[in-house]
Amino acid sequence: MNDALPRFDAPADGALTPAMLTAYADAGVVVLENFVDARTCTALKMRIGEIVDASDAGEARSVFSTTDQAHLQDEYFIGSGDKVRCFFETGAFDENGMLRQSKLDSLNKVGHALHDLDPEFEQFSRAPSLAAAVRSLGFRRPGIIQSMYLFKPPGIGGEVAMHQDSTYLYTEPESCIGFWFALDDATPENGCMYFIPGGHRGPLRARHVRHADGRLETRRIDDTPWPDVPAAAAPARRGTLVVLDGRAPHFSGPNRSANPRHAYTLHVIDRACRYPADNWLQRGADMPLRGFD
Ligand code: FE2
Repeated sequence: MNDALPRFDAPADGALTPAMLTAYADAGVVVLENFVDARTCTALKMRIGEIVDASDAGEARSVFSTTDQAHLQDEYFIGSGDKVRCFFETGAFDENGMLRQSKLDSLNKVGHALHDLDPEFEQFSRAPSLAAAVRSLGFRRPGIIQSMYLFKPPGIGGEVAMHQDSTYLYTEPESCIGFWFALDDATPENGCMYFIPGGHRGPLRARHVRHADGRLETRRIDDTPWPDVPAAAAPARRGTLVVLDGRAPHFSGPNRSANPRHAYTLHVIDRACRYPADNWLQRGADMPLRGFD
């Protein structure tokens, strides 16, 4: 394993400095510590607790797993692009269909439009510092296409296999950048992310498409293997922002520890680019894609 990822203290106004932009261009990822203050991390964790409590997630029981594709046929998932919906971990239920842990410690994620539908997450997602970060990365007409609250709960938090985020949020030309906020300390023990530094220079390997009948498929578009180099861990203390290129190959391990690993992610695309009608994530006409205004 190597620890070659570029790491900086967060810029005061949010805008990445030339040194940060150079490091990001080189590695395809940059770690910005102390981007979010501790009070805000705590507030977001409390807010997601309220949202989960108020949801009917216990009834829906949709499981999200990158290693089990059953969710692909699941209408609850397919229609979640412009909703706030809860998805459970594979190991959340016992043989009698009962949760093994609290609902909060059973979820894989809440997706995919908290940033548009919940006032507290909206305010966080459209903070001036993040708008400045996005502007500094060169977006002409940014659009926040997706948000996810990731739980990676203690004991049962599942691994996320190696992937590139542009597989899921493809535009022509490609424009997706991910913004991953640690709301707890993320460590190798509780499932932090890992990257292949410079791996974003390789091709996009797959596209996650929605067929006309609603079926989802991860379609291989390039057979180039992942670079055969050691992945670099991206441990991230609470409040850290990890910015990742849409082509950056990354994965995260399972959480076998006793500690949660909550994170919040936003994905931004350029609205000047074409957003294909067969991308899995589609928004209703009543939910036009918005930037940071
Ligand atoms: Fe990802």
